[in-house]
Amino acid sequence: MTELAKATVAARLPPELLGVRARWLVTGGAGFIGSHLVETLLSAGQEVVTLDNFATGRRRNLDLVRASVGEDNWARHRLIEADIRELAVCVGACEGVRYVLHQAALGSVPRSIADPLLSHAANVNGTLNMLVAARDAKVRRFVFASSSSVYGDHPALPKVEDVIGRQLSPYAVTKYVAELYASVFARSYGLQSVGLRYFNVFGARQDPAGPYAAVIPRWVKAMLAGEPVQIFGDGETSRDFCYVKNVVQMNLLAALSESPDAVNRVYNVAVHHRTSLNMLFGMLRDLMGVEAEAEYHDFRPGDVRHSLADVGLAQDLLGYEPTHDLEQGLREALPWYLTEYGEAGRDA
Ligand SMILES: NC(=O)c1ccc[n+]([C@@H]2O[C@H](COP(=O)([O-])OP(=O)(O)OC[C@H]3O[C@@H](n4cnc5c(N)ncnc54)[C@H](O)[C@@H]3O)[C@@H](O)[C@H]2O)c1
Repeated sequence: MTELAKATVAARLPPELLGVRARWLVTGGAGFIGSHLVETLLSAGQEVVTLDNFATGRRRNLDLVRASVGEDNWARHRLIEADIRELAVCVGACEGVRYVLHQAALGSVPRSIADPLLSHAANVNGTLNMLVAARDAKVRRFVFASSSSVYGDHPALPKVEDVIGRQLSPYAVTKYVAELYASVFARSYGLQSVGLRYFNVFGARQDPAGPYAAVIPRWVKAMLAGEPVQIFGDGETSRDFCYVKNVVQMNLLAALSESPDAVNRVYNVAVHHRTSLNMLFGMLRDLMGVEAEAEYHDFRPGDVRHSLADVGLAQDLLGYEPTHDLEQGLREALPWYLTEYGEAGRDA
């Protein structure tokens, strides 16, 4: 394993690794995944610009990052509160930036089915604006969040990057279009990009509230409140749950890789382990030590039935090594949920 891989595996990037301090732009930096990227980069002595309009991100996430990294590191952070749907905003944010980690988007399959125009505007128009701005600012690398939903209805398991089916939701289409634009920007303008197809990411600071919340935070919050968890379908739907530290590792590897063969590609970001919703429910009950009930509802339109990633390409070309499986990630993340949403959190 290279020094770079070792450092990113530890999700701590020592400043000397980069030789010099660079400016990174994290779009969506006030969100769940983005805030973990901001935290790791600041801890590693980097200069970080966060661009976020707080559509789904939270100020509290940035407050928690500030508390975690300390004031000296936080002094290298700048927040631009603005919208990637405006090109001028993206152009301004890219000034002097060497690496873009583009996370800003409206997530959630059901949200995109309810309002496809809104998802398209943020995820497609916003990404195209960011690509144009990154190209003009001559950034060294444009890393962007794609999604396992791109695989759509293709039945093959595990999912390999170049075999996709028909997308099942407007959200999936927006992520696929982002991949197409990034690859055309490589061919037309020489912009180096890496797309990361995240598979069901989880961890601290993931929002459990609202109709579009992801399954793990939603269930943990319900279980802490003594409420039944809602399962869509028969519970045998399966996912390759990926702890956020693995995602941070992949973003850093994708941004910093010096192998020409590794860029202008998309990669799966997951663990290569499939867990059914029923198994997840049992695991959470055991880890949290609570008695909880499950309520089964109809399948949701647009949801894919099974998901499992082949992560061989990321391992071979980027040196990716997931540090956390589902249980290790849950053990690390659960204390945060207990503090935020358990008895102590409610009293605070
Ligand atoms: N969490 C997952 O399991 C998962 C899976 C696949 C892909 N992704 C992708 O990863 C990225 C990050 O997801 P997340 O889970 O951290 O979600 P999140 O909602 O916590 O973060 C998204 C951030 O983008 C910001 N944003 C949205 N629209 C914006 C706009 N128009 N201008 C500026 N900022 C805007 C939001 O305010 C938020 O802070 C997204 O692109 C998402 O589609 C996430």
